[in-house]
Amino acid sequence: MTAKEEKPWKGRFTAATDQLVEEYTESVSFDQRLYEVDIQGSKAHASMLASVGVLTSSESDAILAGLDQILEDIEKGDFSWSQTLEDVHMNIEARLTERIGDVGKKLHTGRSRNDQVATDIRLYLRHGIDGLSKNMRTLIESLLDLAEREYDTIMPGFTHLQVAQPITFGHHIMAWVEMLNRDLDRLSDCRKRMNIMPLGAAALAGTTFPIDRDYTAEKLGFDAPSENSLDAVSDRDFAMEFISVASIIMIHLSRMSEELIIWSSAQFAFIDISDAYCTGSSIMPQKKNPDVAELTRGKSGRVIGNLMTLLMIMKGQPLAYNRDNQEDKEPLFDSLDTVTAAIRVFAGMVPQLAVRSDNMLKAARQGFSTATDLADYLVRKDIPFRDAHEIVGKAVQAAEQAGHDLADMSLDELKSFSDQIEEDVFDVLTLEGSVSARDHIGGTAPNQVLAAINRMRELMKNL
Ligand code: ARG
Repeated sequence: MTAKEEKPWKGRFTAATDQLVEEYTESVSFDQRLYEVDIQGSKAHASMLASVGVLTSSESDAILAGLDQILEDIEKGDFSWSQTLEDVHMNIEARLTERIGDVGKKLHTGRSRNDQVATDIRLYLRHGIDGLSKNMRTLIESLLDLAEREYDTIMPGFTHLQVAQPITFGHHIMAWVEMLNRDLDRLSDCRKRMNIMPLGAAALAGTTFPIDRDYTAEKLGFDAPSENSLDAVSDRDFAMEFISVASIIMIHLSRMSEELIIWSSAQFAFIDISDAYCTGSSIMPQKKNPDVAELTRGKSGRVIGNLMTLLMIMKGQPLAYNRDNQEDKEPLFDSLDTVTAAIRVFAGMVPQLAVRSDNMLKAARQGFSTATDLADYLVRKDIPFRDAHEIVGKAVQAAEQAGHDLADMSLDELKSFSDQIEEDVFDVLTLEGSVSARDHIGGTAPNQVLAAINRMRELMKNL
């Protein structure tokens, strides 16, 4: 341990920290990314201390200038992080004293690393959420453009991955948009509870200095100071909430990924993913693999794993701060990085998707996707739905044996299943007729898709 790297608790300790323990307990290798928010928090704290007279204004000026210098040093890469100094907080504080002398030692008045770290993570994550939300809006916009281009493109809709009823591709894409829009909402809800300031809770009980927590909260853009000091230093709900939301986003992306993978297969050939978002095989020359989609599906497991990690770190912890909490950062940062990267790469991939509407249409013609329309037609002729269901079932069986679709049957053939069937049946047996008939809010009719797109665009404008 060099003189400049003495531990702040040297007064109480006689022996140096074991080398292995130093390596085991350090967090600077992964929490140094908090440097900017740590300096921001320290500056707010120092100004507050001056505003209440705990520091003189020249002391606080020296501290603020020193912290600005350190920020510059770090950004220039001119800062050597020391493992002996354990974490980002002690590294910066030690450097401050090195730079400005003994007045630097006054910064930690009325504060503890416990409220400091809780404040830092909230600031960091708040910024992360804002960036993620922005990227999500970009992805939503690109999906809206795709849905608008393909608002009347017909494809088979599936249940159980079996052809069910014809839908429009725009409608399918808008289902994705709904999922992501709920995620945006979840993010902003999570941000609300996150934006409460722990600073001032000190180690656990508050401080004897006459601090002005409203002043600091306002300076740091928090909505309010926390109500209870014990809760403030030990609460990681906001982190659990964030990784929960990140997990749901990743689940949504994994579902979208799965569909992109299926659709881009030779068997479906509904879409082409741009070369820029695929990779080839080192052995099979013909291959073009949807790796981005597959990796995203895989990375969803990683984020959900992070959620389990953090939940288990918190489980059973007594109040107030425990060192367990240092383990919150890696899963948290990894989740933020992973979900942000996934959303960004999707936002780039979506505008480059090529839609093969001819294949979608061909697929929709197979699988008797208008059978429900025929049953509904019979119901409108006053046949009870259950009977209509059975009549159409028989017609489907006959069509299957003949090797063609319901729409390919002659009127006479169709009439053999029910004498209620007339010439106008062909209006409902066509795919276009089938999708257009589902003409209500939330339905797949092309004009409803356009209306849904417009509503979503309005909503995005007002966010
Ligand atoms: N590096 C620690 C963390 O991330 C900072 C707080 C340390 N507090 C303490 N009492 N040892 O949680």
